[in-house]
Amino acid sequence: MSEESTSEKLVELAKRRGYFFQSAGVYGGVGGFYTFGPQGASLKQNIEDAWRERYAVGEGHMEIDAPTIMPEPVFEASGHLEGFDDMLVECPECGTSHRADHIVEDNTDYEDAESLPIPEVEEIVAEYELVCPACGAGLAGQAVERFNLMFATNIGPGDSQPGYMRPETAQGIFVEFPRLKEYARNQLPFGVTQIGRAYRNEISPRRSIIRTREFTQAELELFIDPEDEPDLTEVEDVTVTLYPASEQHAEDGNAVETTIGEAVADGTIADPWIGYFLGISQEWYASVGVDTERFRYRQHLSGERAHYAADCWDAESEIDGNWIEIAGFAHRGDYDLSKHGEHSEDRFTIFNQYDDPKTVERATVDPDMSYLGPEFGSDAQAVVAELEALAERDRTAFDGETVTVDLEGEPSEIPVEKTGFSVDEETIAGEHVTPHVVEPSFGVDRLVYTVLHHAYREDEVDGEKRTYLALDPEVAPTFVGVFPLQRDDDLEARAEAIASDLRAAGLAITYDDSGAIGRRYRRQDEVGTPFCVTVDYESLEDDAVTVRERDSTAQKRLPIAELPDTLAALRAGSLEFAELEDLEG
Ligand code: GAP
Repeated sequence: MSEESTSEKLVELAKRRGYFFQSAGVYGGVGGFYTFGPQGASLKQNIEDAWRERYAVGEGHMEIDAPTIMPEPVFEASGHLEGFDDMLVECPECGTSHRADHIVEDNTDYEDAESLPIPEVEEIVAEYELVCPACGAGLAGQAVERFNLMFATNIGPGDSQPGYMRPETAQGIFVEFPRLKEYARNQLPFGVTQIGRAYRNEISPRRSIIRTREFTQAELELFIDPEDEPDLTEVEDVTVTLYPASEQHAEDGNAVETTIGEAVADGTIADPWIGYFLGISQEWYASVGVDTERFRYRQHLSGERAHYAADCWDAESEIDGNWIEIAGFAHRGDYDLSKHGEHSEDRFTIFNQYDDPKTVERATVDPDMSYLGPEFGSDAQAVVAELEALAERDRTAFDGETVTVDLEGEPSEIPVEKTGFSVDEETIAGEHVTPHVVEPSFGVDRLVYTVLHHAYREDEVDGEKRTYLALDPEVAPTFVGVFPLQRDDDLEARAEAIASDLRAAGLAITYDDSGAIGRRYRRQDEVGTPFCVTVDYESLEDDAVTVRERDSTAQKRLPIAELPDTLAALRAGSLEFAELEDLEG
């Protein structure tokens, strides 16, 4: 029998201890939808709070909360209606749908099948005689089709107003740009964050909460002046593991360890803003419990990039020997704002005021319509438009006696004196620029999974196998378990009073009085509670309790009166358990 993987053990623990489980199980469940149980909901919330603290508050950005359903024009403009799709192949025998690119990647040496044209994927499926992973039937000859991942709905009765569940939270930020820029007093750079649900009708959701159909994203859209560069002082010495596209293409390519400063200087990371975010995120990931030895940044290959991205790096974590994408850091250029500017009536630009007004020359025309009208009839207005465009584009065209305009391929000569051509000086205070967007986009569910996976430990305590989650105190759902040693009115009253004092000190507490004390410790170890406090009969005499540390299982006797301050300091990391004085010496 093959040994269970950590993922298999984790998924079982997650269900048993209330981290996450497939939703609507009573009706058989449906792939790609998960419920976070009491522990999981707290862990996820703590991670979201830590993200907000770092990327919204810590960077001085605004946070918004937009609807999850948006009308069709949003996704027409954003390009999601046209291009947000995956390759679908259906099994001719059992009818199961699969991602054709995944089947190719899982069974051949092709690493980036997503970027291949469909006919080539069909050829590979046939050449390698690839089969349905569900029933083993051959897939050769089956059509591979594009499948749009957005969930469609109708807004209101009837079908006159189609809408879509947002496939990324980002669009909720972009469409509000004309208003958000006012809140930012029209000053670049400014950032807007959002934490919320996104929906993708994944063809084959898999690996529990790693690929789901409803998930949470934490996204930051930073609007920058394309001419500006960030200050990298804070991150230049941060060490990162990078897997650039060049190394992925090379026969014996490898990930490289470097610093953000070096990688930006030698062009490995082409955009310094991306460098900035990779640097701060390296440290943030470590702070919430991602094992940085099992973490890297991988650059997207050109065929892999989303339709809006000019460059993109993924944060990847290692799970049972596989790398999974947990965040994307994309340079979206002016793609989104330009598209929404083209499709809507609003202005998706910022007025960039010059330090000193500039005097510029402007070429204009003021055509003589008493000449153009009889000469060109119904085409006269088109001639005017051509002359205006030409004056702006190439004023030398007006240097001679006549100027030539092109009317649907037909050249026409017009005397320059009839065009009213002139060059005048104009003073301008600034110009409208379309900001560029740099976007760190975090998948919260995949991060929750990574944090749990990287915290999963097995050891032996007193000859017994133990499983525990070495969760960081900042994100652990519960910080302290408080137990009366036995069911006894006096012990319970004292333990409840301690629990209530600790709660008042802002610590996440669980109170547990059921079962043997050893079993209660094991329960808290398994959910990752960093400390347990046990009230025994001696406590009633000496006003002290036993405090046990999860990872080392070391125990110390500490005064009850000092517990709130001591535990708060342990949580903040300003004190180590090993530094505490044990009353029992
Ligand atoms: N706005 C950019 C964007 O949405 P993305 O790379 O498609 O970029 C960002 O998604 C992150 O969202 C990914 O790195 C991943 O962590 C998470 N994510 C994407 N699809 C997911 C899915 N089906 N299930 C769980 N998480 C997903």
